Amino acid sequence: MDLIVSYTSLYISLVVLFAFCRGISAASFTIINRCEYTVWPGILSNAGSAVLDSTGFELQQGRSRSFQAPPNWSGRFWGRTGCTFDTNTGQGSCVTGDCGSNQVECNGAGATPPATLAEFTIGSGAALDFYDVSLVDGYNVPMIVDTSGGSGTCLSTGCVTDLNRQCPNELRFGDGAACKSACEAFGSPEYCCSGAYSSPATCKPSIYSEMFKAACPRSYSYAYDDATSTFTCTGADYTITFCPSGTSQKSARDASPTTSTTNSSGTESQDVVPNEDNSPSWLPNFFSGDSSKTLSPSASVIASLASFLYLFLLH
Ligand SMILES: *[C@@H]1O[C@H](CO)[C@@H](O)[C@H](O)[C@H]1NC(C)=O
Ligand SMILES: *[C@@H]1O[C@H](CO)[C@@H](O)[C@H](O)[C@H]1NC(C)=O
Repeated sequence: MDLIVSYTSLYISLVVLFAFCRGISAASFTIINRCEYTVWPGILSNAGSAVLDSTGFELQQGRSRSFQAPPNWSGRFWGRTGCTFDTNTGQGSCVTGDCGSNQVECNGAGATPPATLAEFTIGSGAALDFYDVSLVDGYNVPMIVDTSGGSGTCLSTGCVTDLNRQCPNELRFGDGAACKSACEAFGSPEYCCSGAYSSPATCKPSIYSEMFKAACPRSYSYAYDDATSTFTCTGADYTITFCPSGTSQKSARDASPTTSTTNSSGTESQDVVPNEDNSPSWLPNFFSGDSSKTLSPSASVIASLASFLYLFLLH
């Protein structure tokens, strides 16, 4: 009896601790770099949202790093390219996506256009998450957002095409390192959806936004492109892949998570990430380890108490 009681308390403590630890996090974000070059991701939390474990860091080719976000988190991710940071002072800047912080961390500063943006609004509990990949501020790196373990539509979105190669001369930036939006390049109200054009009824796609849309059908090509560019999912984890090339825009629920090791400041894989296309599509979602997401702390407390009572009544 004593033995059973102490085992039961241990069990309850572990379950409660586990649920508590998972309960704080609403979603995880894994950023993968499949580019043949180093990318320096930037992360900007929206006003009122918690700052994640990093606001900017270096991600070498083939590496990944994960972050946990609390319920109701909203913010954006982007890639910086062509960065040089002094090894002694840590000071430096990037050719594209620079956040102006003069260091690898962005510390609350956003991307200087042009930059491809992955934008998220994470729900709380059963509420929907909203996500999109935006070219409204231009384009610098191919980027795709995949979901895993969520319920709902949960489609992948992003831009696999290398738009830098298709960029019209008048939008070219940094010797072809990025491609400006028409708003950024010309600053006129009809391209920026401002002034007399500040409503969905008056701001229409332009030849430029249509060119972006043709290359990246699921991305935001101008400010009022909502209908075909905003996606929803509930309770998912997200993978943001730079240069996903070869990856078709399929539903990402088949994607396997990367192998990674735990680290106090998030997780970072030690090796080249596996190609997600190796994972068979019939792999059940619980393989990605997200089942605990739906377990709220109170539900697990009740479950523990129930199992405790059950064991107690048995003896
Ligand atoms: C998240 O936002 C909703 C709606 O604003 C609110 O009801 C809920 O309490 C928030 N949850 C957390 C954990 O902040
Ligand atoms: C954890 O990851 C960070 C960022 O990559 C790294 O600087 C740090 O050394 C790592 N810590 C451990 C204990 O591995």
